[in-house]
Amino acid sequence: MKVLLCGQWGADEARRWQNALAAAMPEAVWLAAEDLSAADHDIEAAVVANPAPGQLAGLPRLRLIQSLWAGVDRLLADASLPAQVPVARMVDPAMTAAMVETALWATLALHRGFFAYRQRQNEALWQVHAQRRADEIGVLVLGQGVLGRAVAARLTDQGYRVSGWQLGGVDPAEARRALDAQLPQADIVVNLLPLTPHTRDLIDARFLSRLPTGASLVNLARGAHVVDADLLAALDRGALRHAVLDVFRSEPLPPEHAFWRHPRVTVLPHAAALTDERSAAAMAVSNLRALRDGRPLANLVNRLRGY
Ligand code: GLV
Repeated sequence: MKVLLCGQWGADEARRWQNALAAAMPEAVWLAAEDLSAADHDIEAAVVANPAPGQLAGLPRLRLIQSLWAGVDRLLADASLPAQVPVARMVDPAMTAAMVETALWATLALHRGFFAYRQRQNEALWQVHAQRRADEIGVLVLGQGVLGRAVAARLTDQGYRVSGWQLGGVDPAEARRALDAQLPQADIVVNLLPLTPHTRDLIDARFLSRLPTGASLVNLARGAHVVDADLLAALDRGALRHAVLDVFRSEPLPPEHAFWRHPRVTVLPHAAALTDERSAAAMAVSNLRALRDGRPLANLVNRLRGY
């Protein structure tokens, strides 16, 4: 089986992926986009990490596009993506575990005020604030996919009052009403939604105004879920206490962006849960072998739904 490997990587990263995938499936012929020739019209699968638009067009025998990313929004935004070819997203237990760690860290730090203590340290200010119990803190997890459910389960184990919200399966207007009812109880919102036309800009002034005063946001999904100006306005008014942001509309976050230096914002460089090539290669290869052997493919994306 010939497999195309393409992503927007540096040379080192590309080599690491190539090595990990070739070690996991030595019987496949692995080709990088730049090595493709006219003789390679028999490529059957592509393993991709945010490929450049157009890279997957013109492969007549292509039967699977396996993403190394969990979120496939950028992949699906490529209008030249062959319409009939199944797309699978990455579901990797190592990535899920990392996401759970980040969500737990952010929730604990927000709940216990550790970001605020860090700020006080800058001013050499010795000042203790009131301590609440975990069961007094409402955490709303947006997104109930593999990542959202794993995060919700861990935060529940930690003692938080966790509720979940998702769009899938119900009429969007009804889902929106349910969200409006949940927001006033959410001291901390953890976003793990897929980015689709229905979830883009969801976290706007209206959303933020329904949260209790002093609530916090943890965005681990996509920058375009959040309207930056509305978030900054809520932080500046003091309506929102803090935001932990791992993802941004433009990445890398431009140096002049207000998030970098805002005292109530913690910026991470899209590092909440990196794809780990050791485990992700095994997951991708298990789908390639299923394709080769005619078994059902795992983690297929519903292209109409967008995730
Ligand atoms: C990371 O953001 C991913 O989608 O895997």
